[in-house]
Amino acid sequence: MNKNKLHKISTLVDELPPSGIRAFFDLVLGMDDVISLGVGEPDFVTPWHIREAAVYALEKGYTSYTSNRGMKSLLEQIAIFTKKERKIGYNPENEILVTVGVSEAMDLVMRAILDSGDEVIIPEPCYVSYTPTVKLAGGIPVILPTWELPGFKVTAEAIEKLITSKTRAIVLNYPSNPTGASYTKKELESIAEVIKRNDVLLISDEIYDHLSYDIPHIAMPAMSEMKDRTVYLNGFSKGHAMTGFRIGYACGPERIISAMTKIHQYTMLCAPIVSQMAAIEALKNGMPEVKKMAREYNHRRRLLVAGLNDCGLKCHLPEGAFYAFASVESTGMTGMEFATKLLKQEKVAVVPGEAFGSGGGKFIRLAYAASLSDIEEAVRRIKSFVKK
Ligand SMILES: Cc1ncc(COP(=O)(O)O)c(C=O)c1O
Repeated sequence: MNKNKLHKISTLVDELPPSGIRAFFDLVLGMDDVISLGVGEPDFVTPWHIREAAVYALEKGYTSYTSNRGMKSLLEQIAIFTKKERKIGYNPENEILVTVGVSEAMDLVMRAILDSGDEVIIPEPCYVSYTPTVKLAGGIPVILPTWELPGFKVTAEAIEKLITSKTRAIVLNYPSNPTGASYTKKELESIAEVIKRNDVLLISDEIYDHLSYDIPHIAMPAMSEMKDRTVYLNGFSKGHAMTGFRIGYACGPERIISAMTKIHQYTMLCAPIVSQMAAIEALKNGMPEVKKMAREYNHRRRLLVAGLNDCGLKCHLPEGAFYAFASVESTGMTGMEFATKLLKQEKVAVVPGEAFGSGGGKFIRLAYAASLSDIEEAVRRIKSFVKK
């Protein structure tokens, strides 16, 4: 048997590095008493009324496929939410697709719009899936480094410098994973101007929209003349604490949504019906719980960031999401060394910045989706670690 031939992996996949977050967390597995500020997932369990809707769905025998694009009532609820809360009118019949999380939506949009060699501008640091999904779709990721820009924010000028005749799209994520950066209306307007002037598509990942503490969240497609130029991605994982339900959605121009639906129907068929029923309940009655969780994150945010700055780890106050992105430069260690030693010596797990882009050597990401007491204890341990 020629295993080399038999088990050969496509070059594209073979050359993809594994997710930096997962690789680091393999180290954490098997260790006791670790305080994890690592994985980007709410520590809250999904609010009971949403879980109850899921239980009810099962009890009533909702165990089938749904329409590929999603249940009509969910599509309608998404249209109501985007209209009322985000000021964008989407037609539930052809401008919305329900997906298995924003993860699936991101993969679908790349595969739907890219031809081999098309370029996609990706600001770094960024969520781990952007570059791989572009590559897997045959595109070329063009990295826009924001490591040295104020608040890690993308600027219109920085985008414009990277636009070529091959640029097909730009990815924007705000509030951002991993930096927590978000944008004011004025900042969004200037980014929108570049997008309009150059006729490129915007892929706007707004999955943390409910977790914006200092500035009201404004959706990019709601900006003047941006609806037709934007594929808007959102989901339930973060704001509603529903990561395990695996449910999200994409809204955008009919032609692109229809192309994404074609791929979705051959790969996923549809999002799980129980999760769709739960999402309907989240959209109908979920806001009070979302606001309660956001208040709690806000409290933790201030505590963690103050603690980090106190021990000399420079960290700007993130405007949203649930991450603090701190520099460990003052310790003389790289983010990877810092994270590895902190884990071994103090049993606190954080993610090395390089998981979010090659310029991340001097940073670490700390998720404050952990209990207040865990955050307090983690800060104590980090202080003692830095002192040593
Ligand atoms: C910016 C960003 N986009 C997308 C996702 C994936 O979300 P989902 O659970 O909806 O697939 C994450 C998850 O961490 C994220 O941080």
